[in-house]
Amino acid sequence: MNPWNHDVAKDEKDLVDVQVDGVWMQMPRGLNVVEVAHRAKKFIPHYCYHPKLSVVGNCRMCLFEMGAPKMGPDRKPVLGADGKPEIAWMPRPQIGCATNIAPGMGIRTDSPLVKDCRNGVMEFLLINHPLDCPICDQAGECKLQEYSVEYGTGASRFVENKVKKPKNVDLGKRIVLDDERCILCSRCIRFSSEVMKDDVLGFVNRGSHSTLTAYPGKSFDNAYSLNTADICPVGALTSKDFRFQMRVWFLKETKSLCTSCGTGCNITIGSREGKVHRLTPRENESVNSQWMCDFGRLNFHDLESKKRLDRPLLKAAGQQFPATWTDAIQRSADALKKVKPDEIAVVASGRLTNEELFVLKRLLGELGVTRVDTVMNPGQADNFLRSGDGNPNSRGTELLGLSSGGRKLSAWAGEIALGKIKALLVLGGEELVAAGIPAETLGKLEVLIFSGILSNATSQLAHVVLPGAAFAEKTGSMLNVHGRLQRMTRAIPAPGEAREDWMILRDMRMALTGGNSLHSVEDVWKSMSAEIAQLSGLNWARIGDLGIQIESVLHQGQVKAG
Ligand code: SF4
Ligand code: SF4
Ligand code: FES
Repeated sequence: MNPWNHDVAKDEKDLVDVQVDGVWMQMPRGLNVVEVAHRAKKFIPHYCYHPKLSVVGNCRMCLFEMGAPKMGPDRKPVLGADGKPEIAWMPRPQIGCATNIAPGMGIRTDSPLVKDCRNGVMEFLLINHPLDCPICDQAGECKLQEYSVEYGTGASRFVENKVKKPKNVDLGKRIVLDDERCILCSRCIRFSSEVMKDDVLGFVNRGSHSTLTAYPGKSFDNAYSLNTADICPVGALTSKDFRFQMRVWFLKETKSLCTSCGTGCNITIGSREGKVHRLTPRENESVNSQWMCDFGRLNFHDLESKKRLDRPLLKAAGQQFPATWTDAIQRSADALKKVKPDEIAVVASGRLTNEELFVLKRLLGELGVTRVDTVMNPGQADNFLRSGDGNPNSRGTELLGLSSGGRKLSAWAGEIALGKIKALLVLGGEELVAAGIPAETLGKLEVLIFSGILSNATSQLAHVVLPGAAFAEKTGSMLNVHGRLQRMTRAIPAPGEAREDWMILRDMRMALTGGNSLHSVEDVWKSMSAEIAQLSGLNWARIGDLGIQIESVLHQGQVKAG
């Protein structure tokens, strides 16, 4: 994904012998010592090193003791009693992030010298650091706090006045900088210039007066700026959206997917007591590495929008009134029974999960309805993660045969006007007025049934409104634009009486056809994997947290088996 994957060896089979804390082991040539220690289940603390960025070696926290094979007078390694080379240790520690392993290298990660060095580095780093922890948003996931526990001295020998630096600096639209907390690791600078190719941040002034800033006339506003709040090891960069909202240790973490475009970045949903507080990227080298875009990250506020639909509505005398689910489902079923299958049209949605789409597919098959399509939702593709498909599961609609890419839908306005379509079922909150079916035309339908999370021009015209669940409120799977099947997990309950669409469709199916074999989302998956050839043999455990590549939905040969 970027050229700096230090955690990935160039060749996992090219192994060299190294000794880590007295134990000989084989590690891939070229890995740096921080990564080697990690693989050896040891830990070398580090601030400036980040596996996806270039190495600068400026924090000095990763000091370790290094040795090389002791050479005899014959210039051959001297062997110890165990037959392995004896190590000659260098008197001066080295930095692990900028040292790649070589054959026979000795590494000590926790010797007294190493611990002494780390104590010294921590003392330096904290000289000017403010005592902000009680009011700092990074508390709970701050590397200064964490390493202080192990390497802090507990008291400061610094009696001079601390250097005062700017606090609460408005660095860009979404990021606030507290310069006093910055430890000058330059991760944010490197992320911007190396990953985003946006040279916007830099250090000014010298020594303890060094300060992070945006270049004159520039603002730190690129589309991925919030990733720097994740990788800033301290509380210097914080998200305007999340700061002061919630202590991180109160957050429940749920593995899920971003559904704001077809890439399907892997995310962790941070929620508490039924409210989502933040989304953060979850590492998946096959999808988004360790990053996500700011748009997707902040696109969860709709969950609490004033337009949120949270109970079924039925139209009577031209007005929508709250109703029970039983009445709403019955009214939908009665209305659909009154028209012939070829007078029904269905808007499936690339926002629905595969499970929801499958229940719909089964229902349409039982009813004999063939007029089904999806609304295209163009996204703003960039050359990094954002996809040109604004729907997260367009590939799923294609896999299940529920989309013709909007071609059928383009004829529906005319068919409604001619009375060929009398009933329209709109799922996934699609907005048909914007998609080209005028409100007057929709007004001619005998029945318009809408399911979605937000009220819009289409829902306001509907005879039946069925409130659905949003991405953080449902469990299921989606297929991203590159053909990767991925799982999402419910983090919070849907508000009010809103329900996941597979439940809505299951109830509608029971009312319409009596079909009742799908009682849980797991049942749906089992039936779907038994029926859809490309999913055959897959279960949720096999899909795993990182998803699995499905070769058969290849588009122009983009996707390989994995
Ligand atoms: S703001 Fe954070 S990421 Fe940037 S240099 Fe300072 S400590 Fe490092
Ligand atoms: S690139 Fe797409 S999937 Fe990834 S975070 Fe952005 S909107 Fe979400
Ligand atoms: S992590 Fe190695 S010097 Fe900063």
